[in-house]
Amino acid sequence: MAPVKNLSIDPERLWDDLMESARIGATPKGGICRLTLSDLDRQVRDWFKARAEELGCKVTIDDMGAMFARRPGARADIPPIAMGSHLDTQPTGGKFDGALGVLAALEALRTLVRAGYETFAPIEVVNWTNEEGSRFTPALAASGVFAGVFTHDWVYGRTDRSGETFGAALDKIGYRGPAKCGDHKLSAFFEVHIEQGPYLEAEGKDIGVVTGVQAMRWYEVTVTGQDTHAGTTPMPRRHDALVGAARLVETVNASAKRYSGAVGTVGLLEVKPGSPNVVPGEVYFTIDMRDPDPAVLDGMEGEVTAAAKKLESELGLQIALKNIWMQPPTAFNADCIAAVREGARVSGFSTRDMISGAGHDAAYVSRVAPAAMIFVPCRDGISHNEAEFSSKEQCAAGAQVLLQAVLDYDRRLAERDGK
Ligand code: GLV
Ligand code: MN
Ligand code: MN
Repeated sequence: MAPVKNLSIDPERLWDDLMESARIGATPKGGICRLTLSDLDRQVRDWFKARAEELGCKVTIDDMGAMFARRPGARADIPPIAMGSHLDTQPTGGKFDGALGVLAALEALRTLVRAGYETFAPIEVVNWTNEEGSRFTPALAASGVFAGVFTHDWVYGRTDRSGETFGAALDKIGYRGPAKCGDHKLSAFFEVHIEQGPYLEAEGKDIGVVTGVQAMRWYEVTVTGQDTHAGTTPMPRRHDALVGAARLVETVNASAKRYSGAVGTVGLLEVKPGSPNVVPGEVYFTIDMRDPDPAVLDGMEGEVTAAAKKLESELGLQIALKNIWMQPPTAFNADCIAAVREGARVSGFSTRDMISGAGHDAAYVSRVAPAAMIFVPCRDGISHNEAEFSSKEQCAAGAQVLLQAVLDYDRRLAERDGK
């Protein structure tokens, strides 16, 4: 079967969807704050469901709140080819991280509907719950359960910093659906995303063909010392938890720099009791470490653990360092990567292969279904920032390649079935 060259997504419609949905949780600096399972998340989910239903899709929700909008294909007995991403954001998130993947998928599906094009397999648009891991750690919660990496109960019991559980928050917004997360089979999964890094823009490439995702690990650290009077406690008598934490933050940074290519971040830190004239008695913080090679992460973890042990005796502290998330590197499926490459070729876009530095739902989905990703450039490589920006044309290119990749994969399924 020849590629379908004349099916074109509409850049204006995609841009309108991006800008309209970005009003839900809009921040004064032009970004979005739409934390997972908040009332704003409910609002954007309702908005997405209404848009999908307008296109004649049936929307099902699973018990992790993941949403699947389905358009039937010629064959109801073949699992759907799915495409999507996430609609939750960071506290100072941009308009494109996640939203582009869901809305490009919606636009690709809309293009099929408007053209009356019948695919072989059903086509679905997916919105995964808690991709960001900002309110509830870790990230990729629903896709992790979908892939059998996390249990339902473990994720339901995760608490935000106010003590509310994931399960309670899911119920509160009314998105604990009847379907069991993980039971839904997919023929394949494709995710469009902004690159969130500088390479495509720097090299003037239109599309990143994502062949895998680097390894990542998250830790929660609690440093316990003694809260005492800031004016009266002599320096030698202190057990200052924040001094210990600060030295560990420096260790994480220095350790990542020692391994070229690795990254290490402390992005969340809470000091207790949090008073100008009390020596801090307890500090909680998180560590995020990433590298394509898990052996590098073993090395970094070893350095941080050794530093913590030393600080315990030096400063008279207790340091509990807990690994809460460990994701090995992901290699995407060769057929899906080939479909993305073909999608870019028929659309006339330049490409570059790349490994994702950011985590994505496609990484977990790839454990249970063939998957790959499509990246588009973003300005100055900036993301997880309200200034994050990809142009209308760049977003449209991602959606167009997505549509063509899905159609290419659909043809492969049909051909395989015909043999
Ligand atoms: C997802 O946003 C990540 O942290 O990579
Ligand atoms: Mn994302
Ligand atoms: Mn993100």
